[in-house]
Amino acid sequence: MRKEEQQRLLSILRHGWENDESHDAGGIVRCPVSDFTCPDLLAREQRTFFRETPMLMGLSSDLPEPNSYWVDNASGISILMVRDSEGEFRAFGNVCRHRGAQVVPEGRGSATQFSCPFHAWTYSNHGNLIAINRERKFGTICKEDHSLVELPCQEKYGMLWVKPSPGGTVDVASCLGGLEDDMENLDLANKSHGATQVIPAAANWKLAIDTFGENYHFDVLHRDSLAPEIRGNLQTHDIFGLNYRMVFARKNLLEAFQTVSNPEELPFRFITLSVYFIYPNTIFLADQYAVDILRIFPAENSTNKSNTFHSWYVYDDAKHYFEEGPHSYEERFVGFNSVIVNEDYFVASQSQNGAESELYSHVVFGRNEPALHHYHNAHRMGLGRDQLELETA
Ligand code: FES
Ligand SMILES: [Fe+2]
Repeated sequence: MRKEEQQRLLSILRHGWENDESHDAGGIVRCPVSDFTCPDLLAREQRTFFRETPMLMGLSSDLPEPNSYWVDNASGISILMVRDSEGEFRAFGNVCRHRGAQVVPEGRGSATQFSCPFHAWTYSNHGNLIAINRERKFGTICKEDHSLVELPCQEKYGMLWVKPSPGGTVDVASCLGGLEDDMENLDLANKSHGATQVIPAAANWKLAIDTFGENYHFDVLHRDSLAPEIRGNLQTHDIFGLNYRMVFARKNLLEAFQTVSNPEELPFRFITLSVYFIYPNTIFLADQYAVDILRIFPAENSTNKSNTFHSWYVYDDAKHYFEEGPHSYEERFVGFNSVIVNEDYFVASQSQNGAESELYSHVVFGRNEPALHHYHNAHRMGLGRDQLELETA
């Protein structure tokens, strides 16, 4: 994010804090609970969002050098991502062209070629089938016609994006819809991968995303965890195509205004938490130490189960805190999960039970929850569904 934009947002937060105001969506919307329980809707979401739509997978440091690879099964399709010998980012369906076994196990590493565990067909990290085990006995096939299936992908602004079905192209700039400046200025290409975890939740994948969609709940649900650090009921509001950005104020924001005479010197990342929704399924957080990427998917083809694939990427000037201090990269998850798992996803599972109770037909998103209006309408737009109606009365 550019300095001028940072200053614009900081003055909105300062004004909001001093006047007890936050962005007003202009009305409420009602969202049917069937959005969280309907198996037919889930099937449409699976096809549209997790097969046909380009997705943010991670950052350049997930593939740190030539011949690095990373296998990701989060979407339900096994995807093999590589930085090939020439340093180019490529993605393939990780599915053997012999009889469909998963060629490379889930995980990360370095390799120039991959051998399938079923009958040892071998592929290069350019996706070419380079050897058929006992080829004379197997029979003759054209190897060029049996490469791994290449998936459209692009690396840009330090981000890795993949569309999990063949055909077409990925244009990261158009996926970002105006967030390019923010991403470019975060210098994502130079953030190191810290650690990765998977967080299951007994809640629809959209309910898991919704827990990141407002800070109305901070002073209540997070009164002992986040509320001492971050001001509740205060956010900025900006829409970038299907994406969304809100910035929260840390409790040291007003003090920073008092101690800095030149607004250009306000230490943005130390006095804010930026929360981005990146369509279709990613929450992207930027705070003082790190960038967190949370990719949220339905689990087990179920309307009431989700998995959050969470990776975090550390700033160079914060590495010493985790590498030399008392904290390891993985230990950061302990604090993070005490909020996300024990508080947010705990109530998300209750919201799921509520949606399944058949006691009521809809939930309500308030004027002070503008991101929820946007998330749900972005998903509805993606599926060609009617938008949720704003009730201004
Ligand atoms: S399925 Fe991969 S070698 Fe047979
Ligand atoms: Fe929360």
